[in-house]
Amino acid sequence: MIYDIKYFDSVTSTNDIAKEMASGGAPEGTVVIANSQSNGRGRMGRSFFSPSMTGIYISIILRPTLSAGDSLLITTAAAAAVCAAAESFAKKECRIKWVNDIYLDEKKICGILTEGKFAPDGSLEYAVLGIGINLEVPCGGFGELESIAGALFCHGEKYDKSALVKKVLDGFSDYYSKLADKPHFEYYISHDMLIGKEVDILRSGKNVGSAKVIGISDDFSLIVENNGKKELLQNGEVSIKVKRL
Ligand code: BTN
Repeated sequence: MIYDIKYFDSVTSTNDIAKEMASGGAPEGTVVIANSQSNGRGRMGRSFFSPSMTGIYISIILRPTLSAGDSLLITTAAAAAVCAAAESFAKKECRIKWVNDIYLDEKKICGILTEGKFAPDGSLEYAVLGIGINLEVPCGGFGELESIAGALFCHGEKYDKSALVKKVLDGFSDYYSKLADKPHFEYYISHDMLIGKEVDILRSGKNVGSAKVIGISDDFSLIVENNGKKELLQNGEVSIKVKRL
């Protein structure tokens, strides 16, 4: 994919800017990058803390020829690309928490939000892939997120932000060029942090039971087992809380 990068210092949400651009006809590969967001958005209506200087906020416009059901491939490919880039820059082991959070040392360092616009026939008109990475702990810390949020680099550690962004974009582009073949599947499975763990299953924020994660199916559903009964959990329907990391 050929990227056309639009850099902003501060925006409301890079996903919102990218969606506006996509609606106005911006081509696939248009990338909105910001140094901070005043209204960074996360999954399930949550906000995404996006302070200036210590994180990087990226949205990529995509115009894939995928069915709506396959759009999960975009998110999971991005998770694999970010995890690989993060590991290679930080020289530390990072993990993917199904479906699209990246963890380092048991703290979330990256969240991904893919949003799509669908045509009346159900096909995807465009998708905006949003990636937020905490590069450093902000001066005032993560506030109420302190116990769950972390950063890729330690205080004072030197890193090349542009090179990291390039690695993420290139890694994603490689996967995206053959997305229907699920080229990221093996990497994703080998870096998943839930397999083998006891988890609580939440629907609309409510705990609806516990189970053990035993795998991820080839459509990226989570396979859990409880009292010998296997169940496939779909992204978007549930969220998962690990009992013990
Ligand atoms: C999550 O953790 O729930 C997903 C967070 C996604 C945050 C990124 S930052 C860039 C893009 N712009 C947004 O407003 N959100 C995404």
